[in-house]
Amino acid sequence: MKRDLLSIGDLSRADCEAIFTLAKTLKAAARARRKHRRLEGRAMAMIFEKPSLRTRVTFEIGIAQLGGTAVYLAPNDIRLGERESVADIARNLSRWVDLIVARTFSHDSVRGLAANATVPVINALSDWEHPCQVLADCFTLIEKRRRLRGLRLAFVGDGNNMVHSWMLAASVLGIEFRLACPAGYEPDPRIVAAARDAPGSRVSVTRSVEEAVRGVDALYTDVWTSMGQEAEETRRREAFRGYQINAETLALAERGALVMHCLPAHRGDEITDDVLDGPQSVVLDQAENRLHVQKAVMVWLSRRK
Ligand code: CP
Ligand code: NVA
Repeated sequence: MKRDLLSIGDLSRADCEAIFTLAKTLKAAARARRKHRRLEGRAMAMIFEKPSLRTRVTFEIGIAQLGGTAVYLAPNDIRLGERESVADIARNLSRWVDLIVARTFSHDSVRGLAANATVPVINALSDWEHPCQVLADCFTLIEKRRRLRGLRLAFVGDGNNMVHSWMLAASVLGIEFRLACPAGYEPDPRIVAAARDAPGSRVSVTRSVEEAVRGVDALYTDVWTSMGQEAEETRRREAFRGYQINAETLALAERGALVMHCLPAHRGDEITDDVLDGPQSVVLDQAENRLHVQKAVMVWLSRRK
């Protein structure tokens, strides 16, 4: 049976660990310039309804390093669900490619692709989740702190797609996750309930940045206005005032706490330059690890066909 990666909820702890182990091997091989052409001759379609730097480059380079090839489909190339239905696109692509990566506005579109494709589908960000980013983030934490279980991470900002994937990942991997967000910008209650349902999970939501951040091992933030929410920017800028990671916020965390951001950053909004570019920031390690972790995801899913 083929498997997809649409949500962190699709993965067990053992699945995540298998992906991290594979990513470590692939990263070491890439650093040593050893070839790992485990997807020789495979093809991958990359459907993007939104812009991307990291996700597009890392998937495209990643499959090439593994011996495969990618076809990038920009928003106007196929007009998902508009020129042709999501189901028909999935059925056609399945006859030509071995993997589908999709960045969509609606999570239903990624789900529709997965339901109709006979090949694995990877969510490269939807309005609901960003699982590839959070897997790379967790891999970065393992590299920096040698473990995940028992780590405390505070997310300051919007209860958005990043928070959804983080809450699910934290609950499955034993990380304490604390979100500080303004009223009206909480994560979807179904995600909070699912995360809290996991045995031993520690997931909290507060209005207070100070309460969330005090004593944590890592601080995370993301833009106040995600792609597709541009019309709400003025209202959001007002609502999120104070939900910023700056030197004062950082001082409340554990000494040497890691500073994380999925990027792109809106400098001066959710995070200040000094913190984003400071010695505790690991944002470029996170960005690099997108490559290694997604290579692992591609290989891991391809084995399960
Ligand atoms: N973090 C991330 O997914 O970046 P892009 O939007 O540039 O792909
Ligand atoms: N929440 C952001 C993440 C970008 C990687 C967005 O959806 O635009």
